[in-house]
Amino acid sequence: MRIIVIGKEGQVARALAERARMHEAEAVLLGRPKLDLADPSGIEDILREKGGDLIVNAAAYTAVDQAEAEPELAEAINGIGAGVVAGAAAAMGVPLVQLSTDYVFNGILDRPYREDDAVEPLGAYGASKLLGETAVAAETEDHVILRTAWIYSPFGRNFVKTMLGLAVERDEIGVVADQVGSPTNALDLADGIYGVARNLLERPEEKSLRGIFHMTGAGFASWAEFATEIFALSDRLGGPTARVRPLSAADYPTPARRPANSRLDCTKLEAAHGIRLSSWQASLEPCLKRLVMELRTSGNR
Ligand SMILES: NC(=O)c1ccc[n+]([C@@H]2O[C@H](COP(=O)([O-])OP(=O)(O)OC[C@H]3O[C@@H](n4cnc5c(N)ncnc54)[C@H](OP(=O)(O)O)[C@@H]3O)[C@@H](O)[C@H]2O)c1
Repeated sequence: MRIIVIGKEGQVARALAERARMHEAEAVLLGRPKLDLADPSGIEDILREKGGDLIVNAAAYTAVDQAEAEPELAEAINGIGAGVVAGAAAAMGVPLVQLSTDYVFNGILDRPYREDDAVEPLGAYGASKLLGETAVAAETEDHVILRTAWIYSPFGRNFVKTMLGLAVERDEIGVVADQVGSPTNALDLADGIYGVARNLLERPEEKSLRGIFHMTGAGFASWAEFATEIFALSDRLGGPTARVRPLSAADYPTPARRPANSRLDCTKLEAAHGIRLSSWQASLEPCLKRLVMELRTSGNR
């Protein structure tokens, strides 16, 4: 299996690259400047030139707050760009896996969101990702849209790395306690994506494998609970630790509003694809081991 991954330096793209061999796959990573989703001309040519059995679009404009100031750019990359990739996948006759987000929902429901629940993004980023979902579905039937949430990994920028960095400097950190979601290790997500990819390639006619699916770590936590677990594990591993002071989202205003409930119901994925990610607590430990080791070797602790 040879997959083309768009989003070369991103967390999910790097996780897909790291896990490729384990899944007897080859991952070809593409990104800026060679392939820019904001510049549709030439995208299909570049994808054809690389050639593969399946395309994963893991590239996105992910600066949630900044998107409020430049919604057109977010829309161009996450909406129009995703549609162009889907059109290219259709023309090439290969399936597309498109990454999407919990931010398509308003977070008001008091249960985990299912794939067919009503969407209502609270901000420009969520709106642009929703546009991407619509554009992908319009361009190709042979797609899987994977909505995920709260991604962390040893790569790039994410909440776990931010918390560890802050704990090097502070004894106490204020963290939002009234938003809940499912922390998702990008490496688990990559394993799940390879599983989905294999199913799509092995069963090209099976409609139940296609469409929108939710894929996150199992279980839920607030950001404050997530941070508390990060520091407990880090402490045990000899890494930096801090006390968590629970905050309300209202005490921590940001340009973009975020859903209070980001929980995604992943039962459809398990029923159709036979894939379920591990509990978020179980998946946090291996990532923290790597990060604490990295901090130690870089001399911070
Ligand atoms: N992170 C989360 O918590 C989260 C939650 C839910 C859903 N998602 C979705 O999951 C996917 C992967 O997220 P991630 O955390 O891996 O993202 P990430 O670490 O922020 O990486 C995004 C990647 O997209 C690339 N990119 C941005 N604009 C581009 C453009 N115009 N053309 C080509 N590439 C471009 C970036 O390239 P540069 O290196 O050139 O900037 C970067 O490599 C995205 O679809 C995101 O919307 C993420």
